[in-house]
Amino acid sequence: MSDPIRVRLTGVGGYLPRDVVTNDDLARKFGIETSDEWIRTRTGIGQRHIASGDETTSSMAAEAARQALEYAGVDASQVDAVLVATATPDQVFPAVAVQVQAHLGMTAGFGFDISAACSGFVYALATATALMRSGQARKVLVIGSEVFSRLLDWTDRSTCVLFGDGAGAVLLETGAGEGEGVLSTHLHSDGRTGDLLYVDGAVGCPSTSQHLRMQGREVFRHAVVKLSQAVDEALEANGLTGQDIQWMVPHQANLRIIDGMAKKLALSADRVVVTVDRHANTSAASIPLALNEAVRDGRVRKGDLVLMEALGGGLTWGSALIRM
Ligand code: ACO
Repeated sequence: MSDPIRVRLTGVGGYLPRDVVTNDDLARKFGIETSDEWIRTRTGIGQRHIASGDETTSSMAAEAARQALEYAGVDASQVDAVLVATATPDQVFPAVAVQVQAHLGMTAGFGFDISAACSGFVYALATATALMRSGQARKVLVIGSEVFSRLLDWTDRSTCVLFGDGAGAVLLETGAGEGEGVLSTHLHSDGRTGDLLYVDGAVGCPSTSQHLRMQGREVFRHAVVKLSQAVDEALEANGLTGQDIQWMVPHQANLRIIDGMAKKLALSADRVVVTVDRHANTSAASIPLALNEAVRDGRVRKGDLVLMEALGGGLTWGSALIRM
């Protein structure tokens, strides 16, 4: 019997918009009735990057992708597929992934977008891995890119302080050894909880508004329970325990949720990659942005076991385990 196809992660990249907006800026310059103290104590967020007019989901995705290719030493012409997780595409179509192909000068391969809100990167990673294991692609760019600042109701202080913009990317390649690379992915969604976190309009269902709406407390409650289940599932599928994890690279929504998950796994704070303090919640971009940072500063190294988990609108949620 021939060896199964195994998928390794060979490149990381990220892009953050030039403009930084602090919590104090929101209160003072944007006139939002809030405070640094309120935002920090409830979420851990201190600032966020906000895209300017020339910074779009596709331009940020392309820059993150370029960096991931450069890191891996792979030319864009060698890439078979581009998958972009986003809830904030530049246009309904072409897909952001196809726009990224054009940005990178790709004339072959294929690309498509994935819509799973804040869980989008885990969904895209799972989809890319499945495509690669079935022999349909050997090198795949997996990107999360978002401009949630353009989706926010800036008069709703309970949501507008929580999010930021940015893009993160990884390059996946076939050829991992046994026990290396993407070990597992687990995905879930439950449409019955759609009213907890949603956007109140789109082209297919016109409304005067197109803004993010959220029942924060309920989302928090679901996040703690569902992320725990997704993490248990990942560990069990691989015969591992929390003690085997070197790094948790969670979706960055709220420091209290992240701390809760670390506690559950008995992981000390220095084993958890946190960016929410500086990036806020960048939805599908948050995990690859955090991974990019931790790989480039030398925290996450080859051979480390990395756990990723995310929950978002849908609700959607999931986990992934990767041996770097
Ligand atoms: N500044 C100051 N006061 C505020 C603000 C603000 N930005 N927003 C709300 N308040 C006020 C409310 O009006 C309320 O005042 P009241 O008691 O006089 O009515 C008070 O603060 C408490 O509001 P709650 O919504 O009950 O605050 P809570 O403690 O639940 O914190 C939060 C809200 C931070 C959103 C929390 O519920 C949470 O973290 N939920 C998780 C949701 C999340 O992270 N979503 C991200 C997307 S999903 C994901 O990625 C996992």
